[in-house]
Amino acid sequence: MDSDAQALVARARACLERAYAPYSHFQVAAAVRDEQGRVFTGVNVENISYGLSMCAERVAIFAAVAAGARRITAVAVTSSGAELLSPCGACRQVIAEFAGEDAPVYCEAGGEVRVWSVSELLPSGFAASQLRRE
Ligand code: THU
Repeated sequence: MDSDAQALVARARACLERAYAPYSHFQVAAAVRDEQGRVFTGVNVENISYGLSMCAERVAIFAAVAAGARRITAVAVTSSGAELLSPCGACRQVIAEFAGEDAPVYCEAGGEVRVWSVSELLPSGFAASQLRRE
């Protein structure tokens, strides 16, 4: 793992304690890098109406987009769990919206990092080309 990847994982870890997870008690944090090299972070934000809860990955990506980013070049995710967390299905689709199929998704637990590409996480995903008519 190169130093950029390590730095991205460290940014995710650094905000893990800010997760708002009073219901699941499962904290998640994410960091994304955009095409300008800017890093945006997110944590899971739960709600008493459970279905309104939002995953850390989407919070980070939406913050990046709100700041003007349109391309995500790398994603890092960590959690309070002992096992590696890989992004949920909804987050995979949102990651694929902004990151290329070869973009790395670094998943960290207990100091160990596993990397998947976007296309490994979401093979044959729904893509803009499928919206074309005829
Ligand atoms: N969660 C994430 O933040 N990201 C994922 O990819 C999976 C799940 C959060 C949602 C909820 O707050 C908690 O983890 C338990 O599901």
